[in-house]
Amino acid sequence: MANYNKKIVITGGAGFIGSHVVRLFVNKYPNYQIFNLDSLTYAGNLENIADIEKKENYQFIKGDITDADFINQLFDKHKFDGVIHLAAESHVDRSISDPLAFVKTNVIGTMNLLNAAKSIWANNYERKRFYHVSTDEVYGSLGATGLFTETTSYDPNSPYSASKASSDHFVRAYGETYGLPYVITNCSNNYGPNHFPEKLIPLFINNIIEKKSLPVYGDGKYTRDWLFVKDHAVAIDLVFHEGKNHETYNIGGFNEWQNIDLVKLLCKKMDEKLGRIAGESEELITYVKDRPGHDLRYAIDASKINRELGWKPSVTFEEGLGQTIDWYLANETWLKNVTSGDYQHYYEKQYS
Ligand code: NAD
Ligand code: DAU
Repeated sequence: MANYNKKIVITGGAGFIGSHVVRLFVNKYPNYQIFNLDSLTYAGNLENIADIEKKENYQFIKGDITDADFINQLFDKHKFDGVIHLAAESHVDRSISDPLAFVKTNVIGTMNLLNAAKSIWANNYERKRFYHVSTDEVYGSLGATGLFTETTSYDPNSPYSASKASSDHFVRAYGETYGLPYVITNCSNNYGPNHFPEKLIPLFINNIIEKKSLPVYGDGKYTRDWLFVKDHAVAIDLVFHEGKNHETYNIGGFNEWQNIDLVKLLCKKMDEKLGRIAGESEELITYVKDRPGHDLRYAIDASKINRELGWKPSVTFEEGLGQTIDWYLANETWLKNVTSGDYQHYYEKQYS
């Protein structure tokens, strides 16, 4: 029986970002016992972490963070030292059609984890840490200029961002009220391998492969700051180990793109990789009805994490996007599996 010096539960580890975080921790820290707690919603996929499933220091637990009794029993049994909380409903469009699902998982689920951690740690907080992985969307929308800093006021606009803002507030409140040791990070838009094809980049990669239309919301002038998912995972590792208690860190890519420019770049790269005539995929671009409450612009000032912890993105957008496209082209079966069944219903409802 191995002797581990830390037990960490990572929630949402079968999802997009979570799978990269779980892989990094399992491989980098053989002395940690890593538990991946995930209920396997439509967004959770064990194929994302198939390469580590047999590692000795790794255990998958299928379970729902909204089930308080289950969470309390699990925490009681394993007495985790650390929680890295990523499990969430994560798609803004779905939050518009079903806001309550976002309250249940993102708010109640986070509360259940906070209560369970508080209960097993029982005021003995030495070497304990609750890490909440959050989003820049809690800050609302920027105009044409300016950046979100850690002191920007919360001003969420979508049910998704309101639920994440609420959970951030509860994490902070547990820190202030009960002394629970926490860190929060607010990150910009991630992209990379294993991204579920409901989000802009993987959706459009899949549609380009299938020669389906590319539904650009509104005038396409909305702006996002894109970060390669593996760089986010590295930042999470750093903040978990070296971030200061009761602090927030913004994480971003220093990489702003208007949607339409990004989509055109993606079309160009895909035409090259697929051996299609230049300009062929751009013809698929279709402007469609805007997302209600669509935030104009997100842009992160990531100077605090850079200055205090020495983090910065390691991959340029060109490299990251190239690697991402290559991954989707090499993982056709993954893409086929996740776009069959329920995905078709979702797609018809969202884009018909
Ligand atoms: P995702 O939708 O790809 O994955 C979410 C995972 O959580 C899935 O594996 C799902 O099965 C699991 N899950 C959902 N509800 C659950 C429940 N009730 N109990 C247990 N597990 C449950 O999400 P993602 O894009 O990887 O995002 C992960 C986290 O990072 C989220 O908290 C999100 O708010 C945050 N975030 C995402 C981005 C981004 O660009 N994707 C950026 C910043 C922050
Ligand atoms: O900023 C961080 C957030 O980024 C995360 O917290 C969320 O979990 C993540 O989903 C992401 O939210 P966005 O709403 O920014 O990502 P999405 O990929 O859905 O959309 C990116 C932009 O592209 C946005 O301006 C809406 C637009 N869009 C999106 C889709 C799905 C389109 O124009 N057409 C589409 O079909």
